Amino acid sequence: MRIIIDTDPAMGTLGGDPEDSFAIMLALNSPEVEVEGVTIVQGNVPAEKGYSNAHHLLRLLDREEVPLRRGCLRPISAARKTQNTWLEQRAGSKQITEMVEPSGPEADAVSFLIDSVLANPGEISLVTIGPLTNVATAMQRAAEFAGALGQIIMMGGTAACAGNISPAAEFNYWQDPEAADIVFRSGADLTMVGLDVCHQTHLRPKQVEDCAKGGTDLGQFVFKATAPWFKIMAAGSGSEALHLYDSLAMAVAIDPSLVTLEESFVEMEIGSGPAQGMSVSHHLPFQRAIFGHPETNAKVALQVDVERFDALFRSRVLDWIAGA
Ligand code: RIB
Ligand code: CA
Repeated sequence: MRIIIDTDPAMGTLGGDPEDSFAIMLALNSPEVEVEGVTIVQGNVPAEKGYSNAHHLLRLLDREEVPLRRGCLRPISAARKTQNTWLEQRAGSKQITEMVEPSGPEADAVSFLIDSVLANPGEISLVTIGPLTNVATAMQRAAEFAGALGQIIMMGGTAACAGNISPAAEFNYWQDPEAADIVFRSGADLTMVGLDVCHQTHLRPKQVEDCAKGGTDLGQFVFKATAPWFKIMAAGSGSEALHLYDSLAMAVAIDPSLVTLEESFVEMEIGSGPAQGMSVSHHLPFQRAIFGHPETNAKVALQVDVERFDALFRSRVLDWIAGA
């Protein structure tokens, strides 16, 4: 599968969720997917930091040939005050990686997405592991974009569980509800890998410590960059483990049989109330009948084979870091 990874990587920003970068490593170390590019979106951290973190990672992995583009710096709607405050509060976060400023086309991920997909109709899929701002903006800018895509495999949303950024909403969709709404209305071939399955995955500090013992530069960087996040997790949820949200979404692109998918009609809550950014999934037929949605617009993941996912992640990411 030819893919473009749309991501908000914070591995390299102190206090940011480092998880996207594991998903990028998984993709680059998996023959089932061919990474055509990495596009950066606002989210975990401002895209200016995400771009610098991805630039550092690709250099560390000796994969600088992979096209890297910076995309949207803010959510689609300027009225999303809390979401914009989230970014402003993180603009000053300390960087482990050096800040790098893209020039010219490198700062235009949306054009890269449009040009790549329209030049290869039906061939290129997106694995989105951050908010959907870049993808939705591409859909708004080029009417034929959605129809020319292969699939969109999204880390995002909830089908039947509580949110993480709020009781109602998962972070990626919450950070740009309008963008998620545009994508769910687009008619594209959507797979939603939400918290229902992502919260069953875990990465624990000792696993990172062990792979850092290999003494590689990559291992040392990963260890240094994840330590603060493990502490934040411990303080927040009491469990010193992080969820491998984005790596699971990437794993679904590599091996869809890892999850059980159900056809659903998913609609977004784009009001300004406490449930803003919630994905409402009608994956039970009676729900679609009651609420007048005979059609479906996405496949949602409801179960995951955690053992098989863990084995894939261990062999293609942790063992690789240890010996990279
Ligand atoms: O809600 C989980 C998502 O938010 C993941 O993509 C994680 O990287 C954060 O961006
Ligand atoms: Ca992410």
